[in-house]
Amino acid sequence: MVKEEEQNGSEKGVSRREFLTQAGWALGSAALGAGWTPSADERALQAAPEFESKYACPVDAQKFATFEELQAHFATAHPHVAAPVTTLRVNERDYPVQIEPQWTLQQTLQFKLGLTGAKTMCDRGECGSCTVIIDGKPALSCTTLAVECEGKSIETIEGIAANSRWNPLIQAYMKHDAMQCGYCTPGFIVTAKALLDKNPNPTEEDVRQALAGNLCRCSTYPRHAKAILEAAQGLRDGK
Ligand code: FES
Ligand code: FES
Repeated sequence: MVKEEEQNGSEKGVSRREFLTQAGWALGSAALGAGWTPSADERALQAAPEFESKYACPVDAQKFATFEELQAHFATAHPHVAAPVTTLRVNERDYPVQIEPQWTLQQTLQFKLGLTGAKTMCDRGECGSCTVIIDGKPALSCTTLAVECEGKSIETIEGIAANSRWNPLIQAYMKHDAMQCGYCTPGFIVTAKALLDKNPNPTEEDVRQALAGNLCRCSTYPRHAKAILEAAQGLRDGK
């Protein structure tokens, strides 16, 4: 079994400033919340860069940085035992990942793959901050088990931010200042992306309906519709 501290990360981590500098825009939506440092956020910031124990042998607890090293270890040390590893397809890339059956997709993305954009806010399926897209539909990664996702295609805010096609959406969010602390923002943008995939020409009511499951404690609500409608126009115009 993987030790709990491996899942939660080490106490040693980079500073908030160092992390935000490295993380780029997708994660940087959280940077807009400089000064707001709830303990869960701080724990995530400390844990995310700690990857050297990504793969741990469940038989003797030795740690390995890569799946290939774990495989080599199994081949020599435990030739009759199969390594409990699954493959998750995230942002069009396959990741062999060692997971516990009870781990949520959000935990796995954050603590095993280092993808911290899908954030845990309520951890009970009520706020939408952990939204990802699974097989084309928005889904709450805090209430989805990672093992359920084998064979499915997962998109996260990191994949959207890295795809220049979606620059109009990100630019519109920045232009309309549709975030304050930014903690909820990745969930809103992922939900918006799923909407625009399905409906490139939404009405304001369509946008409001699509975002109904995304909560923002900073009350940025009026700005999301403006940003998404403008982004929809930009995407249609090919900007
Ligand atoms: S953290 Fe998943 S819905 Fe709130
Ligand atoms: S911008 Fe702070 S929770 Fe939404």
